[in-house]
Amino acid sequence: MRYSSVTGVGRSIVLIGVMGAGKSTVGRCLHRRTGLALHDTDEIVAANFGRSIPEIFAEHGEKKFREAETEALRRIPTEEQRIIITGGGIVLRKENVEILKSQAVIVWLDADEETLFTRASRKSNRPLLHTKNPRKTFSQILGARRPLYANIADIRVDTSVLTDEEVAVAILAKLRRMNPKPESPVRARAS
Ligand code: S3P
Repeated sequence: MRYSSVTGVGRSIVLIGVMGAGKSTVGRCLHRRTGLALHDTDEIVAANFGRSIPEIFAEHGEKKFREAETEALRRIPTEEQRIIITGGGIVLRKENVEILKSQAVIVWLDADEETLFTRASRKSNRPLLHTKNPRKTFSQILGARRPLYANIADIRVDTSVLTDEEVAVAILAKLRRMNPKPESPVRARAS
């Protein structure tokens, strides 16, 4: 079953949230469930550089990464609905926020801080956490970013105690509630 109509004509689903929120895995679940095309800004940037994200940060710096991230977002086709997975810092640039707001329903994946940090530190591919005290760094990043996510999100899902599939189901249910199907003409006439 395709759910593409639930977001209204032309509106993609974009996943935002801090590192460890589960954007990539939930994005893949949504892709499987809806059949919508899937784009991941981190993957696009990495492919364009031919380097991993930590290598890009180390060799070119965060500024170049951010520029490439915006370019990746700009180049995602807009003519059909899609699922867009973003890096946690996508909300840092006003231009990114404007692109997202104009094209997509913005879904913020959040969780309690400990859960997010545990998930984020499972992999070593997050250059922003390559610090002396990753826990403290994470707390600072989360504190600074949460208001930015909250400010642009259409939907927030607390993923703390949910599996990735449950998060995908919750998102689709919330999208359906945002766009209830109009009554069929027959039922409308009968009432
Ligand atoms: C970043 C998050 C990462 C990646 C890069 C910067 C951030 O993506 O874009 O390391 O600024 O929070 P994930 O959120 O998928 O880890």
